[in-house]
Parts: sequence; structure tokens; C-alpha cells
Amino acid sequence: MISPPPPADGLLRRIDHVGVAVEDLDAAIATYERSYGARVVHREEMVSDGVVEALLGVGDGYVQLLQPTTSDSPVARFLARKGSGVHHVAYGVDDVDETLRHLRAQGVRTLDEVGRPGSRGTTIAFVHPRDGLGVLIELVQDPARAL
Ligand code: CO
Repeated sequence: MISPPPPADGLLRRIDHVGVAVEDLDAAIATYERSYGARVVHREEMVSDGVVEALLGVGDGYVQLLQPTTSDSPVARFLARKGSGVHHVAYGVDDVDETLRHLRAQGVRTLDEVGRPGSRGTTIAFVHPRDGLGVLIELVQDPARAL
């Protein structure tokens, strides 16, 4: 299948969130609230990913604090390897599946073949960090932001 060229203004519409792996979600939230005055706007457990997350509003994006709920989840393995820190950067896109097709046509390695459910009703997919300059990239399609 021939994929149409990406739009002239690119595939990545905005920074949706920065994901930060933490050992203790409530302590991490308290730090962001106390030190930075940030507020939790959403909290959700993603059982399939083995995490519980809190989204704190930052401008029109978020910081996403992630605490593992199982010892073998990707975020748990990240914490064991590196400790608390930036886990991924998430970009808002118009259409996750279309974006994945564009990327794969360019030889970009993606961790998901197609979009899958993310928190707050979004559709998400991950791009391999080796094709993200060492950064795990998440693509987010948020129906609340659809034009
Ligand atoms: Co994320």
C-alpha cells in the first residue's frame, strides 16, 4: 500500500505530555502540588500496562506521573534500571493509525502495530526509542481535541 506523504506541517501536532516514572505516586503528586502548584486533572489505573497514572495540567498539556502496579511492567523495569525520571514524551497526532503507517513506511520501528486504548479515552501507540533519538515516543490521539 502506498502511503500519502505526511502533511507539510508535520505529523506531530503538539506535546501532549511528558511521562515520568515514579516509585510513589502520592508522594510525587504532593511534590508537584507543593513545589510547582500543579493540580491533578485526571487519575486512572491502566491494568494492561501495569501502571497507575496521574495527569497534572501544564498549559494545554500534562505531566503524567506513572507508578507501576506490577513488578514486571515496563515502568517497573525502567525504575529498576534507571530510577525515577523521564520515561517517555508524548506527541498529539490527528490519527494514530495513519501516523503509524507514515512512520513504518519511513522505516521507523514502532512498538505497536496499531493504535490501542490509552487513558482518558485516547488512542495511543509507542515508537521504538532507537528511532526517537534515545527517547521513547508515544503518539496520542485525543478525541477531546479533534477538530
Ligand atoms: Co504517556
